[in-house]
Amino acid sequence: MTARFEDLPAQFTVRAPAKINLHLGVGAPREDGYHPLLTVYQAVGLHDDVTVRPAPDWSVEVAVPDWMDAGQLPRLEDNIVTRAADLLAAHHGVPRTGAVDVVKAIPVAGGMAGGSADAAAALVALDRLWGTGTTDEDLLRIAAELGSDVPFALIGGSALGTGRGELVQRVEDAGTWWWVAVPSDRGLSTPQVYRHFDELSPHAPAQPPPADDLIAALASGVPEALAAALHNDLQEPAIALRPELGDLLDRGEAAGALRGLISGSGPTCVFLCSSPDHAREVAATLADPDGGGEHPTVLVANGAVSGAHLVEYA
Ligand code: C5P
Repeated sequence: MTARFEDLPAQFTVRAPAKINLHLGVGAPREDGYHPLLTVYQAVGLHDDVTVRPAPDWSVEVAVPDWMDAGQLPRLEDNIVTRAADLLAAHHGVPRTGAVDVVKAIPVAGGMAGGSADAAAALVALDRLWGTGTTDEDLLRIAAELGSDVPFALIGGSALGTGRGELVQRVEDAGTWWWVAVPSDRGLSTPQVYRHFDELSPHAPAQPPPADDLIAALASGVPEALAAALHNDLQEPAIALRPELGDLLDRGEAAGALRGLISGSGPTCVFLCSSPDHAREVAATLADPDGGGEHPTVLVANGAVSGAHLVEYA
């Protein structure tokens, strides 16, 4: 006998992307301790998948690939997925229930907003599971409460981020961009990198300046133009805290990448390439132990890709 659709248990998988900050301009800290940002985000094709099923209570299981340090994952109650569920449940006055499985492919504590991706995916998936029909506006507001990068994980593509990064608007992007990403085996604390930025930049402006060159380069679709415009104010403090990242950026550029850049607050390093073949060559060189490559994991991803979206209805 064939089961009818409505007889099957509801299960939804939502996929959410990693981000790279193509431009990250940081100002002097605000009264609330956050830094004013002017950033241009790009969503790239490394994804975490969040699957939710009905359950009488609440559970979150996280699966990570071999190369990722599971020790860096937060405990259940501190997990951003649980915080996302709490905020959404409170918003609608419904109980927090469900069995959640997170399959990670975005480096943990890597500067690619993996936790933010999980939060965005959880919001979209649980909204379906609970039938709460949250408006886009409310989802974005709840996302902003969860973290500065979470609204961007919802919208994806390429976008300008202002405020503390949570105010997002799409920007024109005419290219398909190819990236090599090299995660680190140890995470880097975002607050620590921001604190070191404050020490190195005591005269940072109240508002970071516009990123007109970067925005024009994105609209041009030309990889060399984008390479020349990439900029990250957190790169210097991240390298000061982890000098080996500077060596890695040099090695990627020596391997032929158009440009190396620290992703967000690091420590993941990303390298812009001109084509899929070029990205594969750069990745192979960086991964080659005989060529001095001591990075067992080298990833290739393209951008821009979509924000959090349903990939499976069952
Ligand atoms: O917003 P989110 O929780 O992702 O931020 C994590 C930490 O990064 C903050 O507690 C803060 O130390 C730092 N941060 C900041 N300014 C921003 C974004 C993040 O200082 N615009």
